[in-house]
Amino acid sequence: MSAVLADSLAQRWRELTDALAQVQDRYPDAALASSLAAEDMLLTHAIYDSGLSLEVFTLDTGRLHAETLGVLDAVRARYGRDITVFRPDAAAVQQHVAEHGAYAFYESVELRKACCQIRKVEPLKRALAGRGAWITGQRRQQSTTRGELPLEEHDATFGLHKFNPLAQWSEAEVWATIRALDIPYNPLHDQGYPSIGCEPCTRAIRPGEDLRAGRWWWESSDSKECGLHAGNRVISVVARGA
Ligand code: ADX
Ligand code: SF4
Repeated sequence: MSAVLADSLAQRWRELTDALAQVQDRYPDAALASSLAAEDMLLTHAIYDSGLSLEVFTLDTGRLHAETLGVLDAVRARYGRDITVFRPDAAAVQQHVAEHGAYAFYESVELRKACCQIRKVEPLKRALAGRGAWITGQRRQQSTTRGELPLEEHDATFGLHKFNPLAQWSEAEVWATIRALDIPYNPLHDQGYPSIGCEPCTRAIRPGEDLRAGRWWWESSDSKECGLHAGNRVISVVARGA
C-alpha cells in the first residue's frame, strides 16, 4: 500500500496505521468522527484499507452541501462499508427555526453556537455515548485554536479519550497522500474550499487566505469552533508523544 508513497510519506503512513491499530487495541469501541472532508477521508482510508474494525460516523446537520453528502456514496462504492449517520433531533431543529429563523447563525455568535449545539453537539453526544474513545481529523496547522493540539487527550467535555492522529500532518502531506493513494474526496476541495462545514456557514477562500477563513467568515478567528472540540483552547492534556 505505502509503496506508491514517497519515503517520508510512507513513514508517516505507517505511523498513522500503527497508531490507529493501537487505538483499536486499547479502545475497540473507538470511532472516527468524519466531516467527510480531506483529513477524515485520509483516516477513513487508513481504517478501511487496513481492515480495522473502528467505526466511522458523520453528523449530518441537515445543512450540508450535496457534494458532501455525495461522499457517503463514494465511500460505499470504494470500500463497501457504510459510514454511520447521526442526525439532529427534528423537534429541537424545528423549534429553533420557528423561534429564530433558518439563518439565525448570521445574527450573533450566541445564535450560531445554539444552532451548532442542536445540529452538531447533541448528535455528537449520542454518537459518543458508551464509547471509550473517539478519533478526529484535526491538525495543528488548521487554526490558532489548534496550535497545541495533542496526539491524544482526555476529552473532559464528552467524558472519554480523544485521539488526533493527524495533529502533526501538514496540508501538503494530506493532499500528497490522498492523490498517491487515490482516496475519494469531496469535490468542493477543488473549488476553493480547504475546510468544509455546513453550506450556509462555509465559503470558498481566496488565494493567501487562512485555511479556515471560509468557516463562519463573519466571526473573529478565535470564536471559530463549533463545540465539537470545546477543549481546544483549554489545553488539559495527556499529550503523550505530542
Ligand atoms: S469544526 O469543529 O470546525 O466543524 P472541522 O471541520 O475543522 O471542525 O473538523 C475537525 C474535525 O471535527 C474533523 O476532522 C472531524 O473529526 C470532526 N467533525 C467536524 N464536523 C463533523 C461532522 N459533521 N461529523 C463528524 N465529525 C465532524
Ligand atoms: Fe448551524 Fe452553521 Fe453550525 Fe451548521 S455550522 S450547525 S448551519 S451554525
